[in-house]
Amino acid sequence: MCGIIGVLGEHEVAPTLVEALKRLEYRGYDSAGIATINKDKLDRRRAVGKLVNLSDLLVHDPLPGKAGIGHTRWATHGAPNVANAHPHKSGPVAVVHNGIIENYLELRSELAAKGLANETDTDTETVAMLVNAYMQDGDDAVTAARKTIAQLDGAYALCFLFDGEDDLIVAARKGSPLAIGYGEGEMYVGSDAIALAPLTDRIAYLEEGDIAVVTRGSVEIKDENGNLANREIRTVQLDNARVDKAGHKHFMAKEIAEQPGVIGDALRHYLNEDGATLNLPQAGLDFKDYDRLTMVACGTAYYACLTAKYWFEQLAGMPVEVDIASEFRYREPPVSDRTAALFVSQSGETADTLAALRYCEGKATKLLSVVNVPESSIARESDVALPIFAGTEIGVASTKAFTCQLTVLLLLALKAASDRGEIEATKLKEVLSRLRAIPAVLNTALETNDDFRKAASRLANSGNALFLGRGLMYPLALEGALKLKEISYIHAEAYASGELKHGPIALIDKEMPVVVMAPQDALFGKTVSNMQEVMAREGKVILITDPPGAEAAGEDTWMTLVLPQVDPVLTPIVYAIPAQLLAYHTAVAKGTDVDQPRNLAKSVTVE
Ligand code: F6R
Repeated sequence: MCGIIGVLGEHEVAPTLVEALKRLEYRGYDSAGIATINKDKLDRRRAVGKLVNLSDLLVHDPLPGKAGIGHTRWATHGAPNVANAHPHKSGPVAVVHNGIIENYLELRSELAAKGLANETDTDTETVAMLVNAYMQDGDDAVTAARKTIAQLDGAYALCFLFDGEDDLIVAARKGSPLAIGYGEGEMYVGSDAIALAPLTDRIAYLEEGDIAVVTRGSVEIKDENGNLANREIRTVQLDNARVDKAGHKHFMAKEIAEQPGVIGDALRHYLNEDGATLNLPQAGLDFKDYDRLTMVACGTAYYACLTAKYWFEQLAGMPVEVDIASEFRYREPPVSDRTAALFVSQSGETADTLAALRYCEGKATKLLSVVNVPESSIARESDVALPIFAGTEIGVASTKAFTCQLTVLLLLALKAASDRGEIEATKLKEVLSRLRAIPAVLNTALETNDDFRKAASRLANSGNALFLGRGLMYPLALEGALKLKEISYIHAEAYASGELKHGPIALIDKEMPVVVMAPQDALFGKTVSNMQEVMAREGKVILITDPPGAEAAGEDTWMTLVLPQVDPVLTPIVYAIPAQLLAYHTAVAKGTDVDQPRNLAKSVTVE
């Protein structure tokens, strides 16, 4: 959420800033802006909407300078207009910010009392104003920034640039990620490795409370207590940070297509070479030691947890609670010392999930996480962090991260079953061998692409849709509805099939498409009965099933879409594909912005 870049360069910096912002645009696209030191003077350009508007502006009104900062905005305080776009400037300082300054109104009135009036609706401007006020009182740039940061409540990643200072950036992190990139004669600051990767592969992540004073030749980092701090410089793999569409029309299409490959990567990592035994950490991860599992996440990652609940309960006989992070963190739920707490997050930076993890610190016996970004805050603050190997996910709607999360969670559930003596070695071997075949099954499932394109061209004319599923298909129905609404803007809701009669059936009429996810498993007959109830009321059923399911269901549906048949325990991984394809093609048919849907951003680092 909001992307930040800072560069102390050897050459003109505006093109580098814009290129980096392009890689960060998935974090927000309400506005974009850059500031540079141009002949010792601080100057800036800002534009509303997509980054392309800023690029166009820079063609007509270039911004010279070899030191600069840039920002892509996901609006929190104040409408997306030029005045509210970052960088914010007050006197000799410009700042870009990711996060929320919670005490900005209080700070703003203190500044107003000193005669400094705000010109924007943002919380961020207050930060620049405060630095300006300290500098007017005689503080140098770094001292003014330090004093300002000490007064801020809330979450921030901040990057400051100062008039007359062509060789200085001050960066600070609390609650929102920020990294320093080490180049040859150049230095960089960025929200994540993706922003910095083409510039340098040597990156150090700031820790909570760190303030870094960066010049072309040095970086001085002080921790939250003001002590000098050493932050490990890691070499990041450029491959992981590659950001191109590889010939696909959208990142989302590319990421859907990548799923067989990345799931294969995760399986290779978490299975021994024999393919028949698990290669998950044993030290500190023995499910015999826990009486229950609490899983916490947001959005799609939450639906991965809901799916995993069925697996942990059915395979490992383990009591599981699943919670939405934003509720869990404030509900003050009791967490016993025989509980393992598991946090699932693609970005590893989601503010609510991170806060939930911190709530469990010192309460749960073990903090586990399943993340896509191994250097993320959630990974670093867990006792055991399991990466999902999905690779960089750029499409705002999560796809390959979801199926990789499911894969790793299923492996964990199988480990729990094995640790707790609930599964025999031969049965485990059998499930693992079927799981190893999943990438091939997904390739077959992806061959249904055209069927979903055709189905979507009909669905695109609807204003609403319902999704139904039972058992393991219930969380998949929820995920299908979320995908559809977030990228096609069609209002969609999901229900456990058995809940239909308890209210939602009132919505059924001949205008209502109802997507029924029902492989032929033990619950198939019951779901088909619910489907009949919908058809009896003229609802338009889109049945997603397997060949035996299609045969058993008959021909009265509006559409029947057929996927390969798999072991029922593996169906969630396969049925993620239709949830994604249906939403993707509907959005394309409607002409919405698939990769950057309105109002959304990836990596939600604010509450
Ligand atoms: C939906 C989607 C979001 C995220 C949610 C959690 O397609 O992507 O619902 O799943 O914001 O994000 P992470 O997994 O980064 O914690």
